[in-house]
Amino acid sequence: MRIGILTGGGDCPGLNAVIRAVVRKGETVHGDEFIGYLDSWDGVLNDRWMPLSVSSMRGMLPRGGTLLGTRRGSPFDHERGAERTRESLERLGLEALVVIGGNGSLTVSSLLHRQCALPVVGVPKTIDNDIEGTDVTFGFMTAVQTATDAIDRLHTTAESHDRVMVVEVMGRHTGWIATYAGVAGGATAILVPERPFDLDEVCAHLRRRHARGRYASIVVVAEGALPVDGTMPSPSRTIDRFGHQTVGGIAELVAPEIQNRTGFETRVVLLGHLLRGGSPIAYDRMLATRYGLAALDAVHDGAFGTMVVLRNDRVERAPLSVTEGRTRTIDLQLYDEVAEVFFG
Ligand code: F6P
Repeated sequence: MRIGILTGGGDCPGLNAVIRAVVRKGETVHGDEFIGYLDSWDGVLNDRWMPLSVSSMRGMLPRGGTLLGTRRGSPFDHERGAERTRESLERLGLEALVVIGGNGSLTVSSLLHRQCALPVVGVPKTIDNDIEGTDVTFGFMTAVQTATDAIDRLHTTAESHDRVMVVEVMGRHTGWIATYAGVAGGATAILVPERPFDLDEVCAHLRRRHARGRYASIVVVAEGALPVDGTMPSPSRTIDRFGHQTVGGIAELVAPEIQNRTGFETRVVLLGHLLRGGSPIAYDRMLATRYGLAALDAVHDGAFGTMVVLRNDRVERAPLSVTEGRTRTIDLQLYDEVAEVFFG
């Protein structure tokens, strides 16, 4: 078969490992040929691509980012975008397209399959871990590890200066990274979008710690976290050119409020894109490889309109349509169980 591959949306560690696995199995087991579209749907619409082979993928397993480049955006943003996508596949003789993407790219893939019958298979990627249908996305655990390493370092400087450190992590409208890294890093409080926070409660907790002789604290804030209405200023939110509500900036509002309300010296750390960069940890290399192999199998089975997912540690297939307009949020029961013991 001739198969196209593209990476869409924000990058994350493990993209190259997926591409490598798809190409390795396709070329060695089936004699497939591959092309990689450059810069996501831009490459599809503007005829920019590169050949991919086992030899061109050497050394890619541990490499962060994506060798194909990536962009936000969708063919549906362009005139005749879906038809031009079909024409590109036909021109290049492609019998299938593997899309490695987050909620945006997988939704686009679902529409291209449902409305235009394009032969698409999806692979769920994102550090945010917010894709419906799968227990975990590759890239998430690496981001959690990077955030945890940062929090470990922040503990020692916070303790030396008796400070509160407010650490903002990515995650868009979910608190997956904040919860996992906050628990793993021994945070004093974790603020997530799924549960509006009352800063007075956080401050009361910080004061109780001080009274017990713990003068340093780490407060982890997910970029999409919001206060209970009327309890403190909220960050301004707008809609970006891709139709996403903007997030971020909450730590810079929380930190001065904590300092004012408690009198404890407080600093802000924004981890931001640091969480997306660098080499995938072993877990993500393994998951990305399993996803890549399974995506190639789905192509050969003609299972178009599906994506590969992990459920109970087994790689399965789910309809791409489960991603349409959906966001997978954290398990608040897990959050509450931890919060009750560690953040009370
Ligand atoms: O979806 C992944 C993500 O890293 C989010 O956590 C974050 O809000 C967003 O992408 C940042 O996007 P950009 O790279 O376009 O600034």
